[in-house]
Amino acid sequence: MRSWCVVVPRERGEEIRRLLKARGVLQKHLKVTEASGQLFLPTAERVDVGWPTEERECEEAFTPIRSYKDIARVPEELRPQLPTSFDVIGDIAVLKIPEALRPHREEIGRAILRANPKLRVVAHDRGVAGAFRVRDLEILAGERRTTTVHTEFGLRYHVDVARAYFSPRLGRERLRVAEQVAEGEAVADPFAGVGPYAILIARRRRAARVVASDANPAAVELLRRNVAGNRVDRVEVREGDARLVLRAAAPLDRIVLDLPHSAMDFLPDALAALGPRGTIHVYGILEDADRGDRVQAIREAAAAHGRGVESMRVHVVRAYSPTQHHVAFDVTVGPG
Ligand SMILES: C[S@@+](CC[C@H](N)C(=O)[O-])C[C@H]1O[C@@H](n2cnc3c(N)ncnc32)[C@H](O)[C@@H]1O
Repeated sequence: MRSWCVVVPRERGEEIRRLLKARGVLQKHLKVTEASGQLFLPTAERVDVGWPTEERECEEAFTPIRSYKDIARVPEELRPQLPTSFDVIGDIAVLKIPEALRPHREEIGRAILRANPKLRVVAHDRGVAGAFRVRDLEILAGERRTTTVHTEFGLRYHVDVARAYFSPRLGRERLRVAEQVAEGEAVADPFAGVGPYAILIARRRRAARVVASDANPAAVELLRRNVAGNRVDRVEVREGDARLVLRAAAPLDRIVLDLPHSAMDFLPDALAALGPRGTIHVYGILEDADRGDRVQAIREAAAAHGRGVESMRVHVVRAYSPTQHHVAFDVTVGPG
């Protein structure tokens, strides 16, 4: 492979190699060549460190790449800040990049693609915003697209990471909920996104009906496509506000309130939509110290609807921040 090299006498080789490494320009995947007492140190670009430079053919070093971190050319002092992991949605990698590394974000994107041959796009996640919980994304490397197909538990989901919410981190939680669904239940998933709860439930369990809806038209378009693609004819797709969908779908046996930042606002509507006995999966992003208060608030909401809480299981889905967790409350209510 052709590369720029810094040409140094053999005895200065180690010193200059370290200097180039510290500047993040040493091409570690290329071999250092020796000829006539001179070393040719391969660099990512033409570098002036007071020694001659020359473009020449360099052999690949064949060092196994364990992580994109091994090949990302960033200044050594910033290396500890390189993200240790990223989300993979289909063939798209999505990651948050710390402020100090932002000037190097495209190089990070290219390194991720080189270290992960199955990936085709790397996107910088600048945060989830708005009622539709859509990510603000910047494509850093690879193909200029945000659409992909993600496989979860053998089911295929068309996803557009820039137009509809999808998180690959919640697969186990979706399975945990799906496994609770009993034969003949009427289930509603009114914050369905592209459909990973509703479709999994319809495919794995013998629910009588599954109503799946979302207020985001882009999510509903993908949801329809995913319902058809996974051949789950028991899923009824709706578009619109969760409150209206719940009212129209009642009576229900089970409701998934997967809108963690404001699910409690919809709890009264969910309680009103349940049949004589039923279960609601209410999600929350909570300070650990507030978990007891949330349990109490759920009990009070049920009581206000004349319903008794028969059982309440609190399940920690995952850590959300150093002091907060994403928590599921599986609440089963009876007549009162
Ligand atoms: C956290 S996402 C959950 C997506 C999905 N359950 C999943 O597992 O991928 C919340 C979804 O609720 C939708 N949403 C937000 N407010 C809504 C409302 N008032 N009525 C219906 N859907 C709403 C958003 O568009 C988003 O797709």
